[in-house]
Amino acid sequence: MNLEMPKIIYGTAWKKEKTAALVVQAVEAGFRAIDTACQPKHYFEAGVGDALAILQTKGFKRSDIFVQTKFTPLTGQDPNAIPYDKNAALKVQVAESFKVSKKNLQTDYVDSLVLHSPLFPFAKLLEVWRAMELLQINAEVLQLGISNCYDLKLLQRLYEEAQIKPSVVQNRFYSDTEYDKEIRKWCLEKKIRYQSFWTLSANPQLLASKTIIKLALKYKKSEAQILFNYLHSQGVTPLSGTTSAEHMQEDLSAFDFLMSDEEKRSINELL
Ligand SMILES: NC(=O)c1ccc[n+]([C@@H]2O[C@H](COP(=O)([O-])OP(=O)(O)OC[C@H]3O[C@@H](n4cnc5c(N)ncnc54)[C@H](OP(=O)(O)O)[C@@H]3O)[C@@H](O)[C@H]2O)c1
Repeated sequence: MNLEMPKIIYGTAWKKEKTAALVVQAVEAGFRAIDTACQPKHYFEAGVGDALAILQTKGFKRSDIFVQTKFTPLTGQDPNAIPYDKNAALKVQVAESFKVSKKNLQTDYVDSLVLHSPLFPFAKLLEVWRAMELLQINAEVLQLGISNCYDLKLLQRLYEEAQIKPSVVQNRFYSDTEYDKEIRKWCLEKKIRYQSFWTLSANPQLLASKTIIKLALKYKKSEAQILFNYLHSQGVTPLSGTTSAEHMQEDLSAFDFLMSDEEKRSINELL
């Protein structure tokens, strides 16, 4: 039942009432992984659930689609729309949030549950992680992950103390963190999938670089496709939240060509 994570993930942040239609469009175009969160401030999670229901009537089984949602700690929630009791213990917050996710998503399991951001001190992070582990032990979640964690030592500590190790790190991919080079190296060693967001929007300088433009011309691909292809070759799974049918096709066909080692190295040098 464990579905392998597809090469690219469709992101659903900020889509509001357009969420359901866009997710249906994305899956019909070929996306097989959807990212959402139990965070009404930025995601309309129930819209993803509506899309999954519509897709079932079109012949897509729940098990055909990798569904990832998140537990968002209080600091990331809109105080007027918290999807759990803010005064409850952390482990109760996780359980309540996940119950809401299952209802929103009209499913009895998710492929991946990601902690939206670390909590401090570490004891709080571990309390939340233990509650997430319980969901996996109960087979309601198939794998766990963490997002917005740019501190390798913290990731390593979580890895050491976790009974169920993280399978996913979802981070912003940008120059301020040196593109998480050390974290990505460690993730590869530990077989943790690194998912990138802000991949295109935070990197206009990469997309406008001579190196990438030259490769785009050579492979008759767009600059975005060259970057996605390169990232895939480095073990990174990008998220795309495009709202354009043309970009959906582009994003999905970014993986049907192979660049040489030298070409990949030339992009490496830009990071
Ligand atoms: N964990 C977190 O804290 C966190 C934070 C932010 C985002 N996310 C996740 O990541 C997802 C993606 O968000 P994002 O911030 O990376 O950005 P995004 O919402 O994917 O936006 C990327 C931009 O790139 C454009 N684009 C997409 N494909 C393109 C292509 N092939 N060629 C040219 N332009 C293209 C899009 O425009 P068009 O619509 O016109 O194509 C859009 O303006 C979110 O929906 C969410 O699921 C997670």
